[in-house]
This record gives sequence, C-alpha cells and structure tokens, in this order.
Amino acid sequence: MSHTARKRQYGAYYTKQSPFELKPFKNWARSANLDDCTVLEPFAGANDIVHMLQDSNMCSKFACYDIAGRTGQSAKDGVQIRRRDTLESFPTGYHACVTNPPWLARNSARRRGLEFNVPDIYDDIYKYALELALANCAYVAFIIPATFLRSRRLHNRLKTFVLLEKKLFMDTDNPVCLALFTPRPQRTEIWANNEYIGYLDELEDKYSLNIQTMSDKRVRFNAPEGTLGLIGVDNTKKASIEFCRGSDLAHRTVKHSDRSITRIDLEDKVTSKKIDELNGVLNKFRRDIHDIFLAPFKGLREDGRYRRRLDYATARGLILHARLQD
Ligand SMILES: C[S@@+](CC[C@H](N)C(=O)[O-])C[C@H]1O[C@@H](n2cnc3c(N)ncnc32)[C@H](O)[C@@H]1O
Repeated sequence: MSHTARKRQYGAYYTKQSPFELKPFKNWARSANLDDCTVLEPFAGANDIVHMLQDSNMCSKFACYDIAGRTGQSAKDGVQIRRRDTLESFPTGYHACVTNPPWLARNSARRRGLEFNVPDIYDDIYKYALELALANCAYVAFIIPATFLRSRRLHNRLKTFVLLEKKLFMDTDNPVCLALFTPRPQRTEIWANNEYIGYLDELEDKYSLNIQTMSDKRVRFNAPEGTLGLIGVDNTKKASIEFCRGSDLAHRTVKHSDRSITRIDLEDKVTSKKIDELNGVLNKFRRDIHDIFLAPFKGLREDGRYRRRLDYATARGLILHARLQD
C-alpha cells in the first residue's frame, strides 16, 4: 500500500492546533472532572492531543491506543501508545474519551479501493468510532467533520457543538467541529470558537427549520416555469448564494437532478420586494449561525471561508419563514 493510500485507509491526519483552550471545551472538561480521571485517547496517532491537553494543565493521566501511529515509542511526555485495533476491540473502563478519530466516508473508500469494515448503518468510519466511544464512556469529546450537525444521528447526548473556525489540520479543507457529549440527553448548545450562538432547537425554531416547513409541498423545487429562482452555491470569491426571479435563470436548463441552481414554484406572487426580503433573511441567517446548517461545497472561497451550498429543505424553511413575517 502506498504512503497516501495507507494514510487514507487509517485516516491518519493528526491534529496540529489545539481547540482545548476554548471556553466551551473548558466548561465540558470541568463537568467531566477531567483533572481527576484517566483520559482515553483511542486513536492516538503521534499523541498530539495528549500533548495539547498536558499543555493546558487540564489533565495528567492518559491511556493511549493506535492501530499504527507511534505505537510502542515513548512520546516526549513518556505516555506510551499501545497497539490495538480499537474499532475491533474498544478499550473499556474509562470515564472520559478525547480524540480525533479516523475519518473515511464509505463512498470514498469504495472509489479508492480501501477497506471499509464497519456496520452498514454508518456512512463514515468516524460515526462508528463515535458510537463505540459513547457506548463505553460517560464523557466524550470528538473532533469530527462539522457536517455531523446535519446528520441527525448520535445527537442524543450532544451537549455542545463547537464550530472550529481555524484550520486544525494541514491536510483537509473540511469544516471541522468539536462535539462534546455528556452522560444524559441534553439540549445542544452551539458555539463558534469562543462565541456562544444559541441552543440548536431555538435556532431551528427561529428560522422555521422544522420537519413541517422543510417538507412543505407548497414550495416546489426544480419547476421549469417556477417564478422564484435560487442560485444555491457560493461562487469561489464570497458568500454569493441568493434568491432571484425565476425568469433570471431562463437561459439555464433547470434539470431535476440539479441540486444547486433551480426554479421554484410558489403559491405566492413573487415581487422584487419579496425577493429582497428573502435575501435579507438568508443573509441574516448565514451570519447568525456561522453557516453551520449549510453543507460545505468544494473547498475555500477567496475570502478564506468555506464555500457553502443551501440544500432545498433548508431553503424551503427560509422561504416559508420569510412569508410568515408578512
Ligand atoms: C485522524 S488520526 C488522529 C490522530 C490523533 N488522534 C490526533 O488527533 O492527532 C486517526 C488515527 O486513528 C488511527 N486508527 C485508524 N484506524 C484505527 C483502528 N481500527 N484502531 C486504532 N487506531 C486506528 C490511525 O492510525 C490514526 O493515527
């Protein structure tokens, strides 16, 4: 196996900047009594996370494992990494787990001919790793793709979602989050680095993002004659997603398969004023939530932020939300 294939197979992208000085992590560490327990690092790599936690003085005892990584070597701190396939045999008896697990999506593994030995219900290895950690530890902190928030699985004990707005790895252009779990079901707090944004359920209510609005049949996408238009992806320069008149897209063929540029059929009459208001709602929504409900789309923009795509269910919620304010 080539070096790159091996790196991809094991998701061996090490954490290079610490998210552990952030306020939401410190709050979680305090509630977990991290300074009083042995912290499990089940996918330790080169023990970078352990070093960062040591530097932060939040904990001093660790149990570290990796299938490959720097196993057997004594790291600078003397904390040994034991060799173990922790997806096969997850370590038990630990109160708290802090890690950045391997990430590998099922479709990417298939495309590249890599192994993907996890149960069918998971579309990414990190989700299986998370389920194992939650089944075995009361407190869990995982550095994972920020798209986790939209996946709706394994959210029950998610106490805090922290969007990490600085780049933690040299190798990935994916937006990354720190997901912090506690022993019991919780309302989820949303943070962007040190800034508290709000409770997830409140933010969803504020913008009418619930199952009823997001699946409302009165707003129909990919309608060839639709009077409202949506350019649903950012360009490579800035946050450019916008609503427009359907006729502005007349020169484009609107295909059923298109998930980014579309014409929309509505019961309401679409006026320029209405479109301006809708774009106002969209832009406020993007600023308020730091784009966390929008999927990343192919890399960074020239302004250094992630390009985003507005999915149809979220667009439908925003359209109905803007209409309710008449
Ligand atoms: C994304 S890296 C992160 C390493 C470290 N946690 C960090 O943040 O720097 C994931 C690590 O998981 C390890 N790994 C992958 N599959 C594993 C398995 N089945 N059992 C144990 N470790 C595994 C890889 O060798 C790699 O070191």
